[in-house]
Amino acid sequence: MSYSAYRKGKPLQTVSTLEMLRKSIAALRREPVAEGSISAPASIGLVPTMGALHEGHLTLMRAARDQCDHVVASIFVNPTQFGEGEDLDAYPRQLAEDSAMLESVGVSLLWAPAVEAMYPGGPRSFASSISVRGVSEGLCGADRPGHFDGVATVVCKLFNQVQPDMAFFGEKDFQQLAVIRTMARDLDLTQPPAEQIIGVPTVREADGLAMSSRNRYLSPSDRAAAATLPAAMKATIAEIESGAPVNAALSALKSALLGAGFSSVDYASLADASTLAEITALDGGSARLLVAARIGGTRLIDNMPVD
Ligand code: PAF
Repeated sequence: MSYSAYRKGKPLQTVSTLEMLRKSIAALRREPVAEGSISAPASIGLVPTMGALHEGHLTLMRAARDQCDHVVASIFVNPTQFGEGEDLDAYPRQLAEDSAMLESVGVSLLWAPAVEAMYPGGPRSFASSISVRGVSEGLCGADRPGHFDGVATVVCKLFNQVQPDMAFFGEKDFQQLAVIRTMARDLDLTQPPAEQIIGVPTVREADGLAMSSRNRYLSPSDRAAAATLPAAMKATIAEIESGAPVNAALSALKSALLGAGFSSVDYASLADASTLAEITALDGGSARLLVAARIGGTRLIDNMPVD
């Protein structure tokens, strides 16, 4: 029996305390997908999210469902990864709608803690923090100091709370994925180990714009102009791959975006795909083009592989 056939009609269970989470995880571990089809304990795939789910998140859930017996999703708008003046309060919260979406793709368990359950005493007085040096400071980290420390710390907590066999993250947040993989490798995490942290390719709208919970902030005209971002990135990659000087190609990319209606380009960078160190010429290793640009007050990010 396939996992989706097995889960069909099974309600999503939602828990909001650590005690309930641990009990539910223990029960899932004992619950095989179909009698005799797997040996206990059942495997668990975790998909951490901040909610406001869209098709991109559901793709992560389906990837987890294909590779694990049970999918556990978390929804937690993590205050420690938002800086002063960022959109923490405005960040969309829609638990009922999100739960229905999770149930429709066969997620077994939703972990939705309150801030107090995650950070007893409050996030600002929380004493511990994980800092992944090297990968965290550049690119998005330059504009959002402390952001990746907040991400690494909450993801480490989620890993310890759920203890999954595998965890799934979108490649859309490529720097986040690199930070989390580096943390898992450096700290010898086992639930999940670094090699079971799976990056799932970015899901795009029909016009190429990467799906994001923040796309809903775009006005219709900004939304139309936003599609220039992936198109201009593809053109830049083609130029770089055919031997154009990297710096000139990146400058042309910035100009194209500003010309198309973006108000600023925070960065447009060619980087080593695992260390994220900037590279100025293709050297046969795995490279990535990463861009962050603002349009109508919304900051969009995207990244693509360069061969
Ligand atoms: O990508 C996100 O939604 C968040 O950064 C994450 C990984 C859930 C941590 O809060």
